[in-house]
Amino acid sequence: MTEAKVSAQADLGQIDSVIANYREQRWGLIPLLHEVQRIIGYIPPEAIPRIAGGLGLFPTQVQGVISFYSQFYTTPRGKNIVRVCRGTACHVRGGKTILKLVKRQLGVEEGETTPNLEYTLETVACIGVCALAPNIVINMNTYGQMNPKKVARLFSRGDDA
Ligand code: FES
Repeated sequence: MTEAKVSAQADLGQIDSVIANYREQRWGLIPLLHEVQRIIGYIPPEAIPRIAGGLGLFPTQVQGVISFYSQFYTTPRGKNIVRVCRGTACHVRGGKTILKLVKRQLGVEEGETTPNLEYTLETVACIGVCALAPNIVINMNTYGQMNPKKVARLFSRGDDA
């Protein structure tokens, strides 16, 4: 059995225990989804029919809720969430180039996660520190006055600092 299959089965086992706490309680869908995401890191699409069955809902209803709320993810997320600011101040100070460099450095497009699950790349509207534009946020840390050298340094360390 492959490692990925073993891991998927372990995940589904964990999800089944969460579902058991909300059996036939339709109101519990959102807390259940939050709990699954907290444990697994995302909501595996193959878990949707199980969740629906457990709560007495249709899979399309569960899928609809997941799609409606942007905080739910159906693909694995990186250990580090990289957000490049797309606000006006960052844009006029080279934010577009910074985004291009980050994409190249990580080898992913916006919304994607690196294959080693190290980074997920996103963009964000103004983060409120325009004076330091252009900005990147990695997890809870803001990196201002970004330039090509800083981008290279930031991602060549293999961590988020
Ligand atoms: S526009 Fe980027 S921080 Fe305000």
